[in-house]
Amino acid sequence: MKSPLLANLLVTTLISSGFMAAAVAQPLVIAHRGASGYLPEHTLEAATLAYAQGADFIEQDLVLSKDLVPVVLHDIHLDTVTDVASKFPTRQRADGRFYALDFTLAELKTLDVHERRELDGKQVFANRYQGKASFKIATFAEELELIAQLNRQFKRDVGYYPEIKSPAWHQQQGVDISLIVLKMLREYGLDDANKAIYIQCFDFAETKRWRTELGAKVKLVQLIGDNSWGESDTDYTALQTPAMLAEVAKYAQGIGPWLPQVFDLQVNKPTALVHDAHQVGLQVHPYTFRQDVLPPGVSNEQILSVLFNQIKVDGLFSDFTDTVVNFLDKQKVISPD
Ligand code: G3P
Ligand code: CA
Repeated sequence: MKSPLLANLLVTTLISSGFMAAAVAQPLVIAHRGASGYLPEHTLEAATLAYAQGADFIEQDLVLSKDLVPVVLHDIHLDTVTDVASKFPTRQRADGRFYALDFTLAELKTLDVHERRELDGKQVFANRYQGKASFKIATFAEELELIAQLNRQFKRDVGYYPEIKSPAWHQQQGVDISLIVLKMLREYGLDDANKAIYIQCFDFAETKRWRTELGAKVKLVQLIGDNSWGESDTDYTALQTPAMLAEVAKYAQGIGPWLPQVFDLQVNKPTALVHDAHQVGLQVHPYTFRQDVLPPGVSNEQILSVLFNQIKVDGLFSDFTDTVVNFLDKQKVISPD
């Protein structure tokens, strides 16, 4: 974990000596698409760097290949992060887009992954990785194995944070991504509320389905988007009301809101969302801290201090794990009884 060994020993000694009742719960640092601020998102290299930077959890966005293998990609499309258009120039659908679901895993493995680009080729985050090394699409199984092996060797318990991407779209295509991922979790012994794993989804009907119809035991997080994004049929405005948060709490352990939903920059004040979610026992893990796209005049420390010390979020998705880990390490406080 982020805590150096000596700090852990100190806390343990203080607890056993009665100096303090318990250590203050540390918020979770969730590596958003791995160390995506430094290396192409969702590659094994990005996951490895996030691990080394001290992440508590590493995120895997999941979509299916044609042969129904869960692969770690943010989009159902391949064109913005791979060279699919040059390697398979005739395989786009009528809308001009290339879909992971139309390619076997063997075909996906021939692609090179690059830093995220717009469809016109412009890099989305201009100052991030600019090299030409060959990165590959990772399967979910490869990420599970990578993190488990690092945990074994470094004696840590860094967790997994998979997102079920576009479950309704996958169903329309005739495939059930939730069922396939849950079957894998069970094979790996990860469908367990006590393991270091959260499953997240933007689609509330699907979150509910995991807990009810599919009988999942794993911790669940309901993501909250903006209705304008068209992420799912979920009404995200309604989802932020106390009544709907109470409904979410019947099935999930937390919510993953968009940062502007927890802090209103127009009035420079926290919204009620974190308070309301905590009232019904939900943890709050907002997305996404990006130090290269902060609002003008705002520093890393200012925004992180507001989130952790004022709003009191329970975790944070970050493209820059190192910055958040360093911030939390610096302000660690041991509270006497
Ligand atoms: O899952 C949290 C955050 O990743 C949600 O946004 O679009 O980056 O998957 P997105
Ligand atoms: Ca995600």
